[in-house]
Amino acid sequence: MKKTLLLIAAALIALLPATAQGKKGKKFTHETVAIPQVEKQVIAVETENSSLVLLVHENGRLETTHYGARIAQPAQFLKWRVKTDDYNGQRGNTFPVTGGRYVGEPALHVKYADGSHNTELYYTGHAVSQKDGCVTTVIDLKDYVTGLQVKLVYDAYQKEDVIAQHTEILNGGKKPVELLSYASASLYVDADEYLLTHCHGTWASEMQPESELLGHDLKVIESRRGTQNTQGNNPSFLLSLNTKELSETEGEVIAGALAWSGNFRLSFEQDDAHRLNIIGGISPFASAYPLAAGARFETPEMVFTWADNGAGGASRNLHRWARKGGVYGGGEVNPTLLNSWEGAYFNFTTETLLRMMDDAAGMGLEMFVLDDGWFGNNYPRNNDDAGLGDWEVNVKKLPEGIDYLAQYAHGKGLKFGIWIEPEMVNPASDLAHAHPEWVIQSPGREIYQGRHQWVLDLTNPAVQDFVFGIFDRTMRLAPNIDYIKWDCNRVVQSFGSPYLGAQQDRFYVEYTQGLYNVMRRIREKYPEVIVQCCSSGGGRVDYGALRYCNEVWTSDNTDAVSRVNIQYATSFIYPACIMAAHVSAVPNHQTRAVTPLKFRFDMACTGRLGMELQPKQLTPEERALADRCIGSYKKYRDLIFKGDLYRLVSPLDGHYYALMYVSEDRSRAVVFTYALQYEARTVGGKTIRLQGLDPSRRYKVTEQNVDKSCWWGDGGAFGGDFLMGGGFNPVLKTRYSSAIFLLEAQ
Ligand code: DGJ
Repeated sequence: MKKTLLLIAAALIALLPATAQGKKGKKFTHETVAIPQVEKQVIAVETENSSLVLLVHENGRLETTHYGARIAQPAQFLKWRVKTDDYNGQRGNTFPVTGGRYVGEPALHVKYADGSHNTELYYTGHAVSQKDGCVTTVIDLKDYVTGLQVKLVYDAYQKEDVIAQHTEILNGGKKPVELLSYASASLYVDADEYLLTHCHGTWASEMQPESELLGHDLKVIESRRGTQNTQGNNPSFLLSLNTKELSETEGEVIAGALAWSGNFRLSFEQDDAHRLNIIGGISPFASAYPLAAGARFETPEMVFTWADNGAGGASRNLHRWARKGGVYGGGEVNPTLLNSWEGAYFNFTTETLLRMMDDAAGMGLEMFVLDDGWFGNNYPRNNDDAGLGDWEVNVKKLPEGIDYLAQYAHGKGLKFGIWIEPEMVNPASDLAHAHPEWVIQSPGREIYQGRHQWVLDLTNPAVQDFVFGIFDRTMRLAPNIDYIKWDCNRVVQSFGSPYLGAQQDRFYVEYTQGLYNVMRRIREKYPEVIVQCCSSGGGRVDYGALRYCNEVWTSDNTDAVSRVNIQYATSFIYPACIMAAHVSAVPNHQTRAVTPLKFRFDMACTGRLGMELQPKQLTPEERALADRCIGSYKKYRDLIFKGDLYRLVSPLDGHYYALMYVSEDRSRAVVFTYALQYEARTVGGKTIRLQGLDPSRRYKVTEQNVDKSCWWGDGGAFGGDFLMGGGFNPVLKTRYSSAIFLLEAQ
């Protein structure tokens, strides 16, 4: 009987298609690696006002159940259930990985030596530690089939309500793998509507804000430029929940920013049930990153915050975090300055510069910065077509040397700064001839030029040494160089590294790592020097560069009207202490616009004030106004560098702009107002409601830089409640009229 049954079974198997039998007629078998059960538990990553709650299931799966208002007892989420099924593995997926059930956009995608693309991460443990107001939670995940290990690291800055997340990936297998995606963070949010605001731009028009309601397609914000990655999109966003309009004061807003100066990618994808997964990290474009057995990859940080008082609240959280450590020297007051660029360009001698310094000191400015044009002898830098790479002082223009200039500045009580562009080389330079192999290039192809220059290959340690050497040598051109402007005027095109040979997939990641290696060395040796990060203006405005740099040049466009939107939108994510803003000549060299000097000052005074013109061209009246504006700026600038920002009126409809900064103890504030159009009888006397003041205190209000105030209450003292709830209505009627008011608690 038994024998007969076996024969029937064998006959039935023979009828099955060959694939089900196995090629050699063997029975199909599939062994599954067992996943150890773990204790069901809740991990709460908390700040003073927010909670990110993760749920560890018994099967080791990690689920994000909440990011938003602080939950006093997060353990209540132990019983959390979501009724919809999770067919696609997307629901609450804390760190979505290609493999398993997951079919959405991955934070991590690994290709293994056997060709497999599957990874499934399970919880193996976590640890919590604390230091200086920051609670760090490290969650260990593992793929039991390949041995790949991932650490999710959350640094929760308690007072600032900011979480900085990064990921560490360890190839725990025996063979090399390729990382096809390797994001820093993934954030899972549940709301009815998602209004995304982010900034795009181009040269001279950076940081243009754009808001859109997210639909159900994949939304990606990406840059693939290699360098100058924020000249287009910025690696940051504001996400307003459950609303169709960006509000400064109301509603839940999540703000996020990637701290990386290289190619980046932010993605936003809704799942079947309209929950949103936000992923931020290095762009995987042309960057399948190889990870040898036992090797580790650490991603940059993605910084995010949650606030329930609108975009203003979210921005202030990020600004506070930035001032307390996110930015190098954050919150320190940087000096006012005169920069030589728009005043002299490449045409100067020692004499020109000395006279500019005299004028800078005379106007009460505190530093002189010598911009481009001071170097190169065989290939003198008299234009932008030669000299980059040859960083010795041009003896024709400056026979007395930089030391002489710096000493002169110091003798006048001015600090001294100087410009470099160390990542670049002009084909017309000694460097290009000496080291053609240092230039980014692809064999047999044209090396495209932009601004007559090529990019040096920072993946190469010898180039990193060279670039560090430029900074180091420049610092030693004079005993006290106080400030370096680091420029970068070229994107990477037709990329190729002679150093990396066949491993070009490493190029984009290792270029930026190379840049940071250099900057780290610089900071070890020169902790005090102020570094401005410039990249044809705002090409490198990101929290990665700002780990090493004190400030950024937000745009080459110095027209005060163009700066309205640029500075307004930069402030969504970045604090005022990093925003260099200069008063330049009219007609403006970029836009040809003519605006009053006061308007130009009042706009530049909202950041780190500077001037960038030939002071000799100012009339005596203009000089007097400049002296006055610089003097009054020094009285309130601590508020710009250390205070909280409130954006009072958005400039986006092109009519009016107002903002204010308030000291932490709310005893002082400064209010800036601007008319961008002629207002006739419309909003000329617009009532602005101030914010952030103490309602129970009285503030003396004094308009700055004028003999006759545009507000009826000037010089009087008013309750904080009155100024915030009642009325503050300076009359700004004519186009480009502006006013600054200082508020001091009595
Ligand atoms: C571009 C910068 O953004 C300018 O401010 C100036 O430094 C020029 N480069 C100099 O070449």
